[in-house]
Amino acid sequence: MPKLLLSLLMGFTFISSSAQELPKNYGQLLKEVEPQLISWRRHFHENPELSNREFNTGKYIADYLKTLGIEVHYPVAKTGVMAILKGGKPGPVVALRADIDALPVVERVPLPFASKVTSEYGGQKVGVMHACGHDSHISILMATAKLLTAMQKEVPGTVVFLFQPAEEGAPGTEEGGAQLMIKEGLLDNPKVEAVFGLHINSQTPVGTLKYKSGAFMASADWFTIKVNGRGSHGSQPWGGVDPISASAQIIEGLQHIVSRQMDLTKAPVVITVGTINSGVRNNIIPETAVMTGTIRTLDTKMQKEVYERIKLTAETIAASSGATAEVSFENKTLVTYNDPALVLKTLPSLLKAAGAENVSESTWVTGAEDFSFYGEKAPSFFFNLGALPKGTAPKDAGPHHTADFYLDESGFIVGVKAFCQLVFDYGKLK
Ligand code: NI
Repeated sequence: MPKLLLSLLMGFTFISSSAQELPKNYGQLLKEVEPQLISWRRHFHENPELSNREFNTGKYIADYLKTLGIEVHYPVAKTGVMAILKGGKPGPVVALRADIDALPVVERVPLPFASKVTSEYGGQKVGVMHACGHDSHISILMATAKLLTAMQKEVPGTVVFLFQPAEEGAPGTEEGGAQLMIKEGLLDNPKVEAVFGLHINSQTPVGTLKYKSGAFMASADWFTIKVNGRGSHGSQPWGGVDPISASAQIIEGLQHIVSRQMDLTKAPVVITVGTINSGVRNNIIPETAVMTGTIRTLDTKMQKEVYERIKLTAETIAASSGATAEVSFENKTLVTYNDPALVLKTLPSLLKAAGAENVSESTWVTGAEDFSFYGEKAPSFFFNLGALPKGTAPKDAGPHHTADFYLDESGFIVGVKAFCQLVFDYGKLK
């Protein structure tokens, strides 16, 4: 166990002894819910739905939560579900969040419950797959709701369950995801004091937890650069302004922002140009070229600086060849920031839930999460749960968002333990 963890654990043992104890039948409840959790997961896995189209998923969740006799609000934020459990002991209001959407991917894993679902995305016919594991998130949170309800008398405070649609991004210009949940006031009534969430990870050992205090996952920004040149015959480039060669220089320049201008000892920066489109024929110099890309940063100041430098780089390089560049940005997610005070207070709960030897610190992640928006409403803590089968090397595991994505279900129960422990301990910490 890392020294930091050990000292934290020792420093906080007084909290574990003063925290609201989980009832004696907790172990039995966990055992009973596990097969149900796995069958729910298989159901959702076989029946995935794209972002903002989680009609059956949302209804299934809502119908189940209603059988628990807790307050259920459905639909919220288009296809989502919000539920409220009032515990029998006084305490704070805590939110637990699961995202519920799937991706346009054709599943290749030969599972008996593999998805055969097809749908339409961006005008194309696509396969649909839970290729980011949100099926596990739904099932873990449903099982948590079941257990906390069974222990209701002992639960300190109020628990808000957020089953959120469209984490992967709402299609087109539709609203959706965490921002819409917030806009609909789902964290305001009752007023949430802390938000917890987890993400399954196919390349982290099964049943283990990974966390990071402070900036954890990157902000995602999209950018578009349109280079305006002047058309000419391909044999006489001096007669025009070539937007393609200017774009090539701009792409080079963008990578120099990362390698020469940003202080990478502070935090990593990624700039990727993902598309470039220009021209129709080999011997025509076109009038314009358009490229789009993504920016990942883990520090808000650096994010602003990257914006400014991309604009300056694109405009001045374009100007040097007689072209102009129009640069625009679109912010997609914020930095997922784990409140350091909250992490310090609640890390012992994760250690108890998974076993201290199964909890470790994560590096920065350049992937992004719309969970980041909840952090603007209340202190929040987002961590990873491993689902890599024992004996498999991380490099051999199917990455997220791919046809080979695969999860070992045997560690899902650790997610339920983590949520239950957080609710009970945080209730007494406040
Ligand atoms: Ni995801």
